[in-house]
Amino acid sequence: MEQRTIGRLGRAVSAVGLGTWQLGGDWGTVDPQAATDTLEAAVAAGITFFDTADVYGDGRSERFNGALRAAHPGLFVATKMGRRAEQLLENYSRANFEAWTLRSRENLGMERLDLVQLHCPPDSVYASDAVFAALDELVEQGVMAAYGVSVETCDQALSAIARPHVATVQIILNCFRLKPLERVLPAAAAAGVGIIARVPLASGLLAGRYDTTTKFAPEDHRSYNRAGEAFDVGETFSGVPYEVGLEAVRRLRELVDPGVSMAAFALRWVLDQPGVSTVIPGARNPEQARANAAAAALAPLTRAQLDGVAQIYDSLVREHVHGRW
Ligand SMILES: NC(=O)c1ccc[n+]([C@@H]2O[C@H](COP(=O)([O-])OP(=O)(O)OC[C@H]3O[C@@H](n4cnc5c(N)ncnc54)[C@H](OP(=O)(O)O)[C@@H]3O)[C@@H](O)[C@H]2O)c1
Repeated sequence: MEQRTIGRLGRAVSAVGLGTWQLGGDWGTVDPQAATDTLEAAVAAGITFFDTADVYGDGRSERFNGALRAAHPGLFVATKMGRRAEQLLENYSRANFEAWTLRSRENLGMERLDLVQLHCPPDSVYASDAVFAALDELVEQGVMAAYGVSVETCDQALSAIARPHVATVQIILNCFRLKPLERVLPAAAAAGVGIIARVPLASGLLAGRYDTTTKFAPEDHRSYNRAGEAFDVGETFSGVPYEVGLEAVRRLRELVDPGVSMAAFALRWVLDQPGVSTVIPGARNPEQARANAAAAALAPLTRAQLDGVAQIYDSLVREHVHGRW
């Protein structure tokens, strides 16, 4: 597995990581054995970077990651905090950070957390010197080795990168989200900030297996958050209307080499964008984890394939997402 070094972290991470929202909740049920098998399959395939959050299954995903790390010391586990309270500036306090990180340390069984990301905070947080001073203090205390920010918009990403001790920015980047290529990725690369590319398969749409008859479970966010009813609509299918996404995937498929899956093509596209540190597809079973890890071994896409993605984005997707995030 290719390793990529994050300057401000002083550490290398696997180019393909694993997103573990699926092991907590919001995607229908995953039984404990399937969760453990998925994590172990990822490790066996060379994945060393795992993304979780304190709210995924209210700590369930963190606890699975903690058990994995106990069995495989040295794995890198990035968690998130900030969504167990209302997203108000006053809740991003030193006292809450201490309480939230203590809970994550217990869930993960880690004395010092590898990386803690603010979990899509509101704009006011980016402008607050006090918030970042409090995070710096937690690093000095040894509660966490580093911190980052998971963002919704490109403007938020640029604000985070401008903070001198933000080590990583997590952002949606995929064949349906090209705006970060314009300013965010170059700024991150220049500053040594790691880019963690999330939702790389547009919640599975870019794996090319869905059609107009596909049904998602009622407790799956792809049923209940289609219009952003529960959280930012951009986290579900990248904010692209479902039918538009299906048409875009139909056209993207024509760019994919024989023998390569649509999902692998979509992940390879992310890996080929300069400035990306790791891509974190979510997986619901061992087969998906293995298939996603294998994208790191594919040859880079050709200029014609990259241009083809950009053309499909411009003609079908851009109007739905570009001005918004
Ligand atoms: N605000 C935030 O910070 C935030 C928000 C969202 C996500 N994240 C992080 O980013 C990670 C990735 O994003 P995501 O999980 O939302 O979306 P994603 O990675 O774009 O899509 C994941 C879904 O794609 C399908 N899939 C995965 N691998 C596949 C394969 N090889 N072949 C076919 N289908 C495959 C699975 O769905 P089916 O099996 O149902 O088809 C899976 O649940 C999350 O797990 C989480 O760690 C963070």
